[in-house]
Amino acid sequence: MLISMSNILITGSNGQLGSEFKTIANEYSEFKLIFSNRSNLDITDYISVSNSIEKENIEAIVNCAAYTAVDKAEDENELADDINHKAVDNLAKVAKKFNIKLIHISTDYVFDGRTSKPYNEDHNTTPINIYGQTKRNGELSLINVAPKNSIIIRTSWVYSSFGNNFVKTMLKLSNSRDALNIIFDQIGSPTYARDLARHILKIIPNIDTNKVDIYHYTNEGVCSWYDFATAIFEIKQKTIKVSPILASQYPTKANRPHYSVLNKTKIKTNFNIEIRHWREALKECLSNL
Ligand SMILES: NC(=O)c1ccc[n+]([C@@H]2O[C@H](COP(=O)([O-])OP(=O)(O)OC[C@H]3O[C@@H](n4cnc5c(N)ncnc54)[C@H](OP(=O)(O)O)[C@@H]3O)[C@@H](O)[C@H]2O)c1
Repeated sequence: MLISMSNILITGSNGQLGSEFKTIANEYSEFKLIFSNRSNLDITDYISVSNSIEKENIEAIVNCAAYTAVDKAEDENELADDINHKAVDNLAKVAKKFNIKLIHISTDYVFDGRTSKPYNEDHNTTPINIYGQTKRNGELSLINVAPKNSIIIRTSWVYSSFGNNFVKTMLKLSNSRDALNIIFDQIGSPTYARDLARHILKIIPNIDTNKVDIYHYTNEGVCSWYDFATAIFEIKQKTIKVSPILASQYPTKANRPHYSVLNKTKIKTNFNIEIRHWREALKECLSNL
């Protein structure tokens, strides 16, 4: 059933996903997207969030705000938890108070990666870094407050024309280097933030649930960071030698899952959406850069 919707609040709209909503906003005349960022709406501030929902007559929130610095989070546990957990508790309570939809974004890093089969939504969560733990805490808060018509969408390996991401880092490095070592034993699926933004807008009118549903969303296909880097340089026709290395040869502060492929059957079936292969999405993103 299609319900006509109007005002949708996009929080954290200066980030990758939030910025992609800005680029597609004029394609969707049925929605009025209202963009907030950390300076005009801090999601850790319950009163401000509540006031802004009331004042703007918001009917759905898409929470794109997050603490996403995975390695830094190991030292900034409290700040990461404030944004990824306590603020989600605020949003959940506000969604319940005003009986509006909440679409919250979470991550593949809620899983430990010690499997070799794509993760279903109900698989055990055992995060292996602080960022993943704070994101899981946020999910649990939302599930616990349980506003109606709220969903969690877990995604992975997000990139876009905006902000910092793997694609932009590779392109930047290729300007100064002619050889790169890239990890080949972390396996996942890249997600073009613009594809996710488009699909969220398609899904919103059809959300109709009494309990908080979890969905998985990435582009189709699976790769390692090494494969991803190779594809970026192939498409951009950059001559650069890319060599595969083990994650253990590139130590980082935070542990990362070795395998975090998400099974997307549920979101594709329930909302009747088709997702394109990561290579196709990557081509589009690179042509926009
Ligand atoms: N990036 C990935 O690879 C990845 C992978 C899996 C899941 N995700 C999830 O996908 C979602 C979108 O990620 P993204 O890559 O678009 O993130 P991003 O580029 O880091 O953007 C997050 C935005 O949230 C803002 N923010 C931080 N604290 C805030 C606060 N207290 N109030 C309001 N805004 C605040 C940030 O503002 P400042 O710039 O001022 O800090 C930033 O603009 C997040 O939930 C993330 O956890 C991302």
